[in-house]
Amino acid sequence: MKSFRIAIDGPSGAGKSTVAKAVAKKLGFIQVDTGAMYRSIGLYIYNNGVDPDDAAAVTARLPEINIDLGFTEDGQRIYLNGEDVSEKIRQNVISLYASKVSAIPEVRAFLLGLQRKVASEHNVVMDGRDIGTVILPDAELKIFQTASNKERAKRRYDELTAKGQKVSLEDIRAEMEQRDYNDSHRAEAPCVPADDAVVIDNSNITIEENVEIIALLYEMRK
Ligand code: DC
Repeated sequence: MKSFRIAIDGPSGAGKSTVAKAVAKKLGFIQVDTGAMYRSIGLYIYNNGVDPDDAAAVTARLPEINIDLGFTEDGQRIYLNGEDVSEKIRQNVISLYASKVSAIPEVRAFLLGLQRKVASEHNVVMDGRDIGTVILPDAELKIFQTASNKERAKRRYDELTAKGQKVSLEDIRAEMEQRDYNDSHRAEAPCVPADDAVVIDNSNITIEENVEIIALLYEMRK
């Protein structure tokens, strides 16, 4: 059976993972959060004291890294060299490391095979930055999901403070805008909508409405 692939791209804080998880649950697909893969590499680089701006040093460490995915009712689990790092990768410092390592072409090439393999084996809702443009350019449905900077910063702030992390809204917004700039202006696989993506701005709609729109698009295309 050929799999049905839904690609959801967009900047940080646009609710991609939340929506992807809910769409996957509704349709009986698996959710694949590719940001978690970059975060896991960022975590490994951070834990080993490697400079994330030193592309050669980061690339040299890739053969030491093994990433595995697990799929549950509540979404994806991710394993770094056998350890479940699904929570650790959400630390704020790892966001910056992930953004930096994700600009390195060798890191992107390292993850491409894994991403394409899971999409060929399952019906997937895969979220990231370049899923519709690079990873699955012939995905059956492509969404580019976004929201205003103010709304996205507030969501990230609420998410981190709910986990007990001490952060300021101003710092979160500044860091987020810097990461977005890096992610959308890098030479390799920048975060831009595919020509055939449906753009959803969810600043003023609920998660449920956002999920419903994607489910309807799926019904029309399946
Ligand atoms: O979605 P996220 O915040 O968990 O992603 C972490 C970083 O990884 C983010 O800075 C962008 C990068 N990323 C990427 O370059 N390509 C993807 N497909 C997914 C994430």
